[in-house]
Amino acid sequence: MTKDALAQAQADYAALKAKNLKLNMQRGQPSDADFDLSNRMINALSVEDLHMDGLDLRNYPGGVAGIPAARSLFADYLDVKPENVLVWNNSSLELQGLILGFAMLHGLRGSAGGWVHQKPKMIVTVPGYDRHFLLLQTLGFELLTVPMQSDGPDIDAIEKLAAADASVKGVLFVPTYSNPGGETISAAKAAKLARLKAAAPDFTIFADDAYRVHHLLDERDTPVNFVALCRDAGHPDRAFVFASTSKITFAGAGLGFVASSEDNIKWLSKYLNAQSIGPNKVEQARHVKFLQAYPSGLEGLMRDHAKLIAPKFQAVYDALERELGQDGGGYATWAKPKGGYFISLDTAEPVAARVVELAEGAGISLTPAGATFPAGQDKEGRNIRLAPTRPPLEEVGVAMQGIATCIKLATEERRATR
Ligand SMILES: Cc1ncc(COP(=O)(O)O)c(C=O)c1O
Repeated sequence: MTKDALAQAQADYAALKAKNLKLNMQRGQPSDADFDLSNRMINALSVEDLHMDGLDLRNYPGGVAGIPAARSLFADYLDVKPENVLVWNNSSLELQGLILGFAMLHGLRGSAGGWVHQKPKMIVTVPGYDRHFLLLQTLGFELLTVPMQSDGPDIDAIEKLAAADASVKGVLFVPTYSNPGGETISAAKAAKLARLKAAAPDFTIFADDAYRVHHLLDERDTPVNFVALCRDAGHPDRAFVFASTSKITFAGAGLGFVASSEDNIKWLSKYLNAQSIGPNKVEQARHVKFLQAYPSGLEGLMRDHAKLIAPKFQAVYDALERELGQDGGGYATWAKPKGGYFISLDTAEPVAARVVELAEGAGISLTPAGATFPAGQDKEGRNIRLAPTRPPLEEVGVAMQGIATCIKLATEERRATR
């Protein structure tokens, strides 16, 4: 029986290779059609707008926290007050790196000194975002992993780690429509995290809310507000919440911003001011004008993105169900997130690396196996991140049919060795 299944899978794979495909399901990037929704942003500013909020946007003065109109817009976005927001340049990842770097050198407010002297550890969720792991390890953090569950990080595991060791300085994770699984932290778990008793007085929640408004369906997950939760829990400085417009306007030319307590924004401004006279105010004004003028504002723009992206997610599910069976047919399981940019798939056997290799051999590029774990080490060897946003819809279906063929072959190869 297994031999027949293997022979069939080998024949299917040979047929797949003969198609000479060249498809990419690896890049978590918007499509050209997504970018096109924001093309008019280029012309959103007129010469009259170069003076805004009493500032000459062309000149230096204005400070490091961003122009008032941008702070106000993104304060609404993150459900905080403008004083709680700092708007920077085009990358929220850069802001994460800057804040973690300042913490390493100087410590956060309430720290005894720079974390670099304290052999700092940071908790991350797995599967997770490879750039978080790279950033933290590059800065010198030891990473501790906890599982991401369907309602957010395993809080009990975080509590244990944080209570036991004062060198555990915090947790970095994606609270809404996580990368790669699409999970959203529940209100109950978020409140628990805000209240948590940590050995380190400067234990901090670094919430990378990159997909906060990236809903795909009418039924939506509800994002949490860590700034308010931590304030109410008596830890006002405990949270930094990051976001950007990279998956809203232009991935390479959007705006990154961060929310935290007013004191933390002042703390951050002090260090940013030492290395920059301020962010690009013209780009901030351009974003404000464009997003305000978009029909139904940011909500309207996100609905237009969803119209482009949701069918691609559906094409992934349709191909997997058609090829493997409704429930994955004993080959794989996958999540169906209500938003975000990724689908996380787990193979039944530890064959993720072989699937990626077979797919590559058939001209379909996938995120490297293990990328969703620190140092690329997926001990179970089962997780694959699928990124359907960038290719055109027709290609997603073709690529996923091919990937299903690779999953079947890798699984049957493995089972045939038993
Ligand atoms: C969770 C998460 N955070 C941050 C980023 C990058 O954001 P930015 O372009 O603002 O640096 C990504 C991009 O894929 C992401 O998935």
